Amino acid sequence: MPLSSRHLLGLQGVPKEDIQLILDTATTFREVLERPIKKVPTLQGKTICNLFFENSTRTRLSFELAQKRLSADTINFTKSGSSASKGETFKDTVKNIEAMKVDMIVVRHESSGVPHYLTRISNANIINAGDGRHEHPTQALLDMYSIRERLGKIDGLKVCIVGDIAHSRVALSNIYGLISLGAKVSLCGPATMIPKDIQRLGVTITHNIDEAIANNDVLNVLRIQLERKAGTNIPTLREYHNYFGITSERIKKNNPDVLILHPGPINRGVELSSEVADGPFQIILDQVTNGVAIRMAVLYLLGTRP
Ligand code: CP
Repeated sequence: MPLSSRHLLGLQGVPKEDIQLILDTATTFREVLERPIKKVPTLQGKTICNLFFENSTRTRLSFELAQKRLSADTINFTKSGSSASKGETFKDTVKNIEAMKVDMIVVRHESSGVPHYLTRISNANIINAGDGRHEHPTQALLDMYSIRERLGKIDGLKVCIVGDIAHSRVALSNIYGLISLGAKVSLCGPATMIPKDIQRLGVTITHNIDEAIANNDVLNVLRIQLERKAGTNIPTLREYHNYFGITSERIKKNNPDVLILHPGPINRGVELSSEVADGPFQIILDQVTNGVAIRMAVLYLLGTRP
């Protein structure tokens, strides 16, 4: 069965079957990544533009690598160094890129809704690589893949998303995806970082990090988004770490079996101690490896959709 949409704009409203298809397809590509020759001819002849208006390390490089692994032709746009920095409009930029006969566009933008707008001005398949505070669907997919790989399932697991929920696109995509696959999702953070009406999505809330560690199978720990002025929601980073930071002591005291995820980049010493960031409870670099397989799966399923 093909995916139900020709774009991946977010996980809100995406059928459970589509999410499972992406995760299962990624398992096949994960095996390809272990081969001596890590390349398949699946998207030969397709041209993909990575349109990044906001900084990125993991998402941009893993999309580019996924495209190369699938034998697609890739072009990369970053705002700095482009004519957008000379005042060219977003629409003109997209129209000019599309005139080069591009089949798919992977877009990251600081404004929520840009991927949706792109579907109206472009004929390419659009993949959201993170839009403002809205969604980051491939991050949530790779998070779910990594949890499933480590714990064998998603259904019935208790997953807590910790930290700066208010500024996070990773949180929203994880909430939609995890609930769709049957996980019980909770949020933990300061009241100033948790949107007031978010319980309507089917999540519960705690403000006690020890409770969150003790009562969950998985913690997905988010970065404090200093570039989005998240520092104004908390008195100091040191105080945040004292109340909500994940440390080895807290894990050992409350739940040594808990699995720690972090989407990166990490603020070491703020949301995670360095000991946790490099230690045995986390799977942060596995998430990065799995991100290539997930992005290969999404590109393959959209690029070969009838
Ligand atoms: N997780 C994530 O989106 O990281 P980058 O901003 O480096 O792409």
